[in-house]
Amino acid sequence: MADARLGDEADLYEAMVANERVEGWMDVLQDYVGRPGDASAACRAKRAAQELAEAASQSTAYEEEAIACGAPSTLEAALRASLSRGAEEKLLSALSTSLASLCGEGAAQVRVRSVRFSSACPTVLVREGALGDGLGARLWGSSFFLCRVFAATDPRVMAHETVLELGTGVGLLGCVASLCGASHVVMSDGERGALHVARATMALHQAKHRDGCDDERAVASVCAAATLPWEVAEGALCVRRLDWRDDRRRMEAGEATHVDADVDVPTLSPDATFTWVVGSELLYDVSCAEACAASCARRLAPGGRAHLVGAVRDRAYLDGFLEQARRWKLRTCVRALDPEEIAADADGRTLGLRRASEYEGGYVEILMDRRDAPHDWHVAIPFE
Ligand SMILES: C[S@@+](CC[C@H](N)C(=O)[O-])C[C@H]1O[C@@H](n2cnc3c(N)ncnc32)[C@H](O)[C@@H]1O
Repeated sequence: MADARLGDEADLYEAMVANERVEGWMDVLQDYVGRPGDASAACRAKRAAQELAEAASQSTAYEEEAIACGAPSTLEAALRASLSRGAEEKLLSALSTSLASLCGEGAAQVRVRSVRFSSACPTVLVREGALGDGLGARLWGSSFFLCRVFAATDPRVMAHETVLELGTGVGLLGCVASLCGASHVVMSDGERGALHVARATMALHQAKHRDGCDDERAVASVCAAATLPWEVAEGALCVRRLDWRDDRRRMEAGEATHVDADVDVPTLSPDATFTWVVGSELLYDVSCAEACAASCARRLAPGGRAHLVGAVRDRAYLDGFLEQARRWKLRTCVRALDPEEIAADADGRTLGLRRASEYEGGYVEILMDRRDAPHDWHVAIPFE
């Protein structure tokens, strides 16, 4: 089981830079394959292969990106071309070293992390994806905080909860809500890559916690499956596409708004509402923060509550979120969180979360309910 560090925004920059550089190297190598007799093309190909090998051996992001861009077959074609031309040894060596560098951690077909966030709860397996699958393809540590909120909730109360996780990414939070007894859980995201990763996490969850497999067998069963379902446990736990911008359009333009359905991934019904809307690390630019507020408002059932947690990278993102939340008639309350309180695992380790001082507004939890709701949730919280 992989035990890599948790996701954070550095991943986004790393993936973007890796993508740009890998595409550049691929262009050079393809150019060489097209004219292997050209000395300058061969010289550039040698340099590209050397740089790719070095980057991929030092960074999983480069390795994953190179694999996603089809580098192994391009390198093989370049090797064949150089062998048939009797190319210089340094080029052959650079190409084969580069090919060998793409067999590390980033080449693993299934990257699984096992997480134990509380001694009261069993280990949960989560599938992680490549950085190129999007920000949600790695587990972000803030989600541990809400996992512990679920675990601390009376199972009799959980049994009445219907939970919507916004921006689920790898799908940890939704699986934990289900494990803690919620009657119906939807893990949603707007990104195709994240939805596929969350679906695999859900399949691992099903195999481990419902079919009783041990970790190895759970992973093996997911690897062996030709296709994975979008829902398990007779629909009690499912993965659905929900882009907050669609909800925002619906809220602003009314019910007539048409949203294109994704043919592959089932979309959350426009009118589905939940007693508990949750999410971690969702506010990382103004427009997504504002759209997220619209989804919180639209998806909250009367009497329901929303609970988000995450870093405040820029106060404008949080302000934009809160302004929109109030516009859509939500009461809001923001409380500062200590990273040690957020992402400690069952053994008290803080899992490498960045320090609060690294973010303009530290870490916060945002609690919300509808203005028309009775005051029976978090009565102690001074809602604005
Ligand atoms: C930083 S990741 C956090 C993932 C996960 N909640 C965690 O804590 O590990 C943010 C997630 O929000 C999703 N997201 C961003 N914008 C979205 C939108 N407009 N609609 C739905 N999901 C969105 C991303 O695809 C990604 O999975």
